[in-house]
Amino acid sequence: MKVHIYDNYQQLSTQAAQCVAKQLKEKKASVLGLATGSTPRGMYAELVRFYKAGKLDFSSVTTFNLDEYYGISKENKHSYYYYMRENLFQYINIDIKNVHIPNGLAENVEEECLRYEKEITGAGGLDLIVLGIGRNGHIGFNEPNIQFETMTHLVRLDKDTIKANTRFFEKEEEVPTTAISMGIKTIMQSKKILLLANGRDKASAIHKALLGKVRPDIPASILQLHNNVSIFLDKEAARFLSPKKDKTKRLRCAFDYNTTLISEM
Ligand code: PGA
Repeated sequence: MKVHIYDNYQQLSTQAAQCVAKQLKEKKASVLGLATGSTPRGMYAELVRFYKAGKLDFSSVTTFNLDEYYGISKENKHSYYYYMRENLFQYINIDIKNVHIPNGLAENVEEECLRYEKEITGAGGLDLIVLGIGRNGHIGFNEPNIQFETMTHLVRLDKDTIKANTRFFEKEEEVPTTAISMGIKTIMQSKKILLLANGRDKASAIHKALLGKVRPDIPASILQLHNNVSIFLDKEAARFLSPKKDKTKRLRCAFDYNTTLISEM
């Protein structure tokens, strides 16, 4: 794992966007896994900025979103389909037929999950996936005590997740209680993984995920077993990390404090 720690959210967003941009430069027809939530908003804004400056081309890019609430339509303003259009897709030259998000209204969920996995495989697999992390250590909607072998599936959202996501809704009762999410195995099959986290309330989950044991009650801890993971943190999310004290984990994690900013695109 390569852990990059920045002074602030803007810097981590720019650097994460640079990393995605590098992927697209290396492979124009990249297959990207994308996250929603507050964390990647800054990164999407940066990707839009690079695109508007003529420095990125999304015309051959294929995307698969990590998850979608179950039981709401893509027109619903709380859907992740809506989020992606609002934060990224409407501003760039992606071909909408290359955009994939689980169907939150699928009648047969099992079929929908299988279809989604087949589409990912059919596209050649994920080249790079962007993840946020929940305060409870979830990635995608893979909540604590998940089985690491899961592929795309229907999940019941954790109470903590429902609480955390209430901020996007009028009240807690409106937050969907289930979602379709890529599984841990789907995520781990991506060739490269970026995990982004900012703010004090992510510090404990980050500490456990990076320096604790690999265990199902901290789903993100599984990332320690992937061979190409880059973690982008601000100082607040990194505040419990003290790699110097932990010699064994230092072998697995390369920490890079105040990472030199990669030059602007
Ligand atoms: P957030 O969500 O970016 O809105 O904090 C991250 C997550 O729950 O995975």
